[in-house]
Amino acid sequence: MTQDAQIAARIRQGRGPDARLVEAVAAADGVRLGRQGIQAARAALASEVLGLGPLQHWLDDLAVTDVLVNGDGSVWVDRGAGVERAAAEQLDDRTARRLAVRLAGLAGRRLDESQPWVDGLLPGGIRLHAILPPLVEGGVHLSLRVPRARADGLAALRRLGMFGAVTEQLLRQLVRGRTSFVVTGGTGSGKTTLLAALLSEVPATQRIVVVEDVRELAVDHPHVVRLQGRGANVEGQGAVDLVDLVRQALRMRPDRLVVGEVRGAEVREMLAALNTGHDGGCGTLHANSARDVPARFEALGALAGMSRHAVLSQLSSAVQVVVHLQRTAGDAGEDARGGGGVAGGRRVSSLSVLRRVEQEVHACLAFDAARACPGQAWDDFIDLVGGAAGSLEAPGCSQPG
Ligand SMILES: Nc1ncnc2c1ncn2[C@@H]1O[C@H](COP(=O)(O)OP(=O)(O)OP(=O)(O)O)[C@@H](O)[C@H]1O
Ligand SMILES: [Mg+2]
Repeated sequence: MTQDAQIAARIRQGRGPDARLVEAVAAADGVRLGRQGIQAARAALASEVLGLGPLQHWLDDLAVTDVLVNGDGSVWVDRGAGVERAAAEQLDDRTARRLAVRLAGLAGRRLDESQPWVDGLLPGGIRLHAILPPLVEGGVHLSLRVPRARADGLAALRRLGMFGAVTEQLLRQLVRGRTSFVVTGGTGSGKTTLLAALLSEVPATQRIVVVEDVRELAVDHPHVVRLQGRGANVEGQGAVDLVDLVRQALRMRPDRLVVGEVRGAEVREMLAALNTGHDGGCGTLHANSARDVPARFEALGALAGMSRHAVLSQLSSAVQVVVHLQRTAGDAGEDARGGGGVAGGRRVSSLSVLRRVEQEVHACLAFDAARACPGQAWDDFIDLVGGAAGSLEAPGCSQPG
């Protein structure tokens, strides 16, 4: 088999080409190229075969977290202040489509007429989504999420300005106290990143079972078991969703059940599990404010055929705390190290406790992280996380949280 054929075969198998093959192909050009030419060819070839091709250079800009290609070939990037147009760039339809198909292969997935979208993970932890027309207007659309803040634990995120010292201490206590919680926020607010860092704080004696649609949570912990969903095959068979995976996870003796992103009918299994002795469960949930969380659970529960009453009666005992994140693009916030700079304006804005009040569930503010103020549910929070009263004394409101 020729080297090109070997590379193509590996891509078709979803394994990606061997870096040595890329070097060999570049070196074969060396007769004509000379040493510098080989280096340039190697870089170009590596990015064309192993990397993001025409989008590769965005990976070198450490501020870029999202690279998006729209159906008209326009390229958009998020560098911490919302999406902006990369004015100098335009991909033609053929290039965008070829890139999407190749990246799908690198992620071990297919992208063609019979499987017209892909949601997968590229080498380096980049999350890939691509969808083909006619499901989307115009040409192929690509969405790439580049992980930037690594899960080196909470201290690392504090250094990036995601929260202050008091919030860090409260978050540590949240994990240590085996309280069940959800990390909430809008799109790209840092939910997955913060959850991974929180899980890295789980004691090594506990077994974490993570359930995800696409493997994304980068958890630094010695005992993590990962379950991942899969799509249907060409005959439309074999799809495995999060509902099945949460059920399987519960049979695998989890000390911590983690649902990477709660977004569908799996909420029923999750609520049931957390109500029946599985302490310390957690996940992320898309919500624009902590106050919206009960309504979000209600809506997801409805997808699983649960009545409002059933969801709300389980929710407050299943999920005790809400950690809410907010993006404040360009705002340095109360802590000069954070804001729109290093953390891209991604900050913990509040910690809340879910309380059952008559027939309703409310998210009650326990700690306003932006102003470092304890809220009305501060004492409840301290009770829940089992903090030693002395070490978790409510701070004065003027300090950064
Ligand atoms: N504190 C931080 N400092 C710098 N970059 C960060 C920080 N937190 C998250 N990021 C980056 O922001 C991007 C979005 O983060 P993440 O994927 O955690 O958000 P999310 O809320 O889970 O997004 P989604 O809504 O798509 O699930 C990622 O590239 C991540 O590396
Ligand atoms: Mg996420």
